Amino acid sequence: MTELPFDTVAGCLVPDALGRKVRLRGWLLRSRSSGGILFLRLRDRTGSIQVTGRRDALGDEAFDRAEHVQAEGTVAVEGTVAEDRRAPEGREVRAEAIRVVDAGLPFPVFADQTEEFRLDHRHLVIRSQDHAATFRLKAELLRAFREFLDREEVLETTPPILSGNAAEGGAEAFEIDYFGRRGFLSQTAQLYLEALLAPHERVYALTPSFRAEKSRTPRHLTEYLHLEVELAWCDLDGLLDFVERMIASAVHAVAERRPKELAQLGRPPEELLAIRTPFPRLTYASAIEKLASLGLPVTWGSDLGTAEERALTLEERQPLFVTHFPRELKAFYMRRSPTDPRTAEAADLLGPEGYGEIVGASCRETDLDSLVERIRAMGGNVADYEWYLDLRRHGNVPHAGFGIGVERVLRWMLRREHIRETTPFPRTPARLTP
Ligand code: 4AD
Ligand code: MG
Repeated sequence: MTELPFDTVAGCLVPDALGRKVRLRGWLLRSRSSGGILFLRLRDRTGSIQVTGRRDALGDEAFDRAEHVQAEGTVAVEGTVAEDRRAPEGREVRAEAIRVVDAGLPFPVFADQTEEFRLDHRHLVIRSQDHAATFRLKAELLRAFREFLDREEVLETTPPILSGNAAEGGAEAFEIDYFGRRGFLSQTAQLYLEALLAPHERVYALTPSFRAEKSRTPRHLTEYLHLEVELAWCDLDGLLDFVERMIASAVHAVAERRPKELAQLGRPPEELLAIRTPFPRLTYASAIEKLASLGLPVTWGSDLGTAEERALTLEERQPLFVTHFPRELKAFYMRRSPTDPRTAEAADLLGPEGYGEIVGASCRETDLDSLVERIRAMGGNVADYEWYLDLRRHGNVPHAGFGIGVERVLRWMLRREHIRETTPFPRTPARLTP
């Protein structure tokens, strides 16, 4: 059967496929037999369809073999597309031959098992319809981001994951033993993107980032996909404008191309098509005033936690920028605001409906002395950052950039309770396998 091309389930469902001879192969969602007829639900990458096989058409031996295929076992089928009013698609394939590829052992995963069991069997659970839809949507989102960046002439680059610097702050960095030297898994590609800026002006990288955050929250992974952009000659307004256009453009593209999968996961695509630029903007100072009025007092200088971010956006239908955070709250490389030196020219983009931070953005400090002072203040060793400081000595330009948490964006778009549902093999403090 391997020498001839196979058809797809989707191909059986187009209007003029009725009466056509087809060859399908795939996995069985389920099967049963009654009165000498086999009823198989066959799945391939394009969908699923009912396959029926009569004992008299298949022959006793083939029928008996096909009857013993387990859920998630694999078969190849030759048959004819026929009308069947009882099937959800109004179609079925009447089999003339069924070849068992792998009958399989009894499938251990079924409804109502504990979350722990399901995470232990993640390698099998990801065959579910919801996971399949989720990861197609994730691929579509990544494609849409890349298309946007291509249109904006931003160059894709490949910074390293292994590094001698903990760029976002030592506490949350995974330390590694690098042949006897101290190394770290990358928390951000930003410092390398800043170096790549001089020859290319606009660069991006899509890499995993690692955060050794012990906190178990529904929005933290220890490994996540980080899409980072760095733009030369860019100020805060230019930066926020770029971020909002990128988010809106990608979200619209996904809603237009994958409405079925979105609806399946409980997000009406119209809600995503209603995302509009410009996104509302609120300074940190105004945000804490608003929070006080909501009964969540924050003293100036304290960070906004999950509860605060949630309160700010619970009733919002559009993403919200919070800008001008106190300098001490933010990373060493963020530019001091010329108008309010207590603050950094930084912005977090919060997803609507209470989903919290999805993008972290800032203008970069160009002043060498300020950078050195801030590296010392965070307890860093200035010598480790000499190469980065060199960038300020040779053709320093105003620049800015941001990092998108891909799974965070997806969690909001797909209305998932927990971020682990947006990645096939989630890494959390409690989970390193499968
Ligand atoms: O705000 P963060 O820490 O910013 C940076 O790392 C910058 N250097 C990025 C840049 O400007 N190039 O992280 C950026 C984004 C956050 O807004 C969030 O969406 C996501 O990364 N993120 C996480 N996603 C999942 N799990 C975690 N533990 C995350 N930590 C951050
Ligand atoms: Mg952040």
